[in-house]
Amino acid sequence: MKKVYFDSAATTKVRPEVIHCMTQALKMEYGNPSSTHAYGRSSKSLIETARKEIAATLNITAAEIIFTSGGTEADNLVLNSCVRDLGIQRIITSKIEHHAVLNTIQALEQQHHIIVDYVTLDDCGHVLMDSLESLLAKTGTKTLVSLMHVNNEIGNIIDLKATSILCKKYNALFHSDTVQSVGHYKLDLQEIPIDFIAVAAHKFHGPKGIGFAFIRKNSGLKSLIFGGEQERGLRAGTEPVHNIAGMNEALKISYQNLDKEQDYILDLKEYFKQQISEAIPGVSFNGGCDDNARSTYALLNVCLPMSAEKGMMLLFQLDLKGIACSKGSACQSGATGGSHVLNQFLSEEDMAKPSLRFSFSSFNTKEEIDYVVACLKELCLA
Ligand SMILES: Cc1ncc(COP(=O)(O)O)c(C=O)c1O
Repeated sequence: MKKVYFDSAATTKVRPEVIHCMTQALKMEYGNPSSTHAYGRSSKSLIETARKEIAATLNITAAEIIFTSGGTEADNLVLNSCVRDLGIQRIITSKIEHHAVLNTIQALEQQHHIIVDYVTLDDCGHVLMDSLESLLAKTGTKTLVSLMHVNNEIGNIIDLKATSILCKKYNALFHSDTVQSVGHYKLDLQEIPIDFIAVAAHKFHGPKGIGFAFIRKNSGLKSLIFGGEQERGLRAGTEPVHNIAGMNEALKISYQNLDKEQDYILDLKEYFKQQISEAIPGVSFNGGCDDNARSTYALLNVCLPMSAEKGMMLLFQLDLKGIACSKGSACQSGATGGSHVLNQFLSEEDMAKPSLRFSFSSFNTKEEIDYVVACLKELCLA
């Protein structure tokens, strides 16, 4: 059976070079990085080299990187510690954040009685900067802003630099979930005065179970996990040496090939839009997909002119044809109800139609798009 993977926003295929690098680390670097003997020192050295190289890519210092088990943990570390250790009493966020942020903030609201304010979105799901500014202007409480850089369901992008500058203007801390952007966009964190970001390696062809939090120097954040002194006391537990090596390799390759791959993937996205628009009259695109400056090149969220009833089986039918895509965040695939993201701005009528997220990588081809569009046409017109 033909197999097509269009779900890279859920997770990406691990690059062969990354697998090679990780197996080498598993074979050779099995010493515990905290051990003082040669085996331990060698593992430690690999970790610290990776930390320096990753830091150089983002123009930050190695000490500002805390390795975590992925994006969720990095988001949790920042949000929880900001409230517990930095006296944050109010969080400004959006209703279209990933659940790693939304659910953490909700828990903080219940447990610590912090105030939570949500920014207003326009009818494409873009954050309205005026709304953020008017919320920031309400002073008096120590505030953290948490807004994701690239939305994982609709691909909308916020201007990270402008948002950081606005937060600084009102003396608020700024955290961004950059899980869908690091490895896909170049970020210079000296240019962008942001306080914290969260990153996951499996979104840029690296391994699962590894990521990091960028924590700006002297921020005062403290550990959520108690134990050893790893990660300078900010994240206890023996470091996954092979995962860190794999993440570093994956990030290096992503940035080496960035321009070429961006062009290639954007061309795929445009081709997909064009082909599906011709094949299925009445199809539309969710979010700000038409504005390439404010929408990621790697994702297309498609609203199909189909009844809710027919749409229910769509993912299953596509799966039978070997096609992998999703209805939204993979973490929510077991949940009932529609997408919490689309729900914020789609009309009731469009919410009733099936929407599918197709997300691309440089491993995809136009032939795969032809196959998917033909299958969708057959299912829509059946
Ligand atoms: C925007 C965003 N934030 C956070 C996460 C969670 O990252 P991880 O799977 O590494 O915990 C994801 C992954 O689905 C994501 O897309």
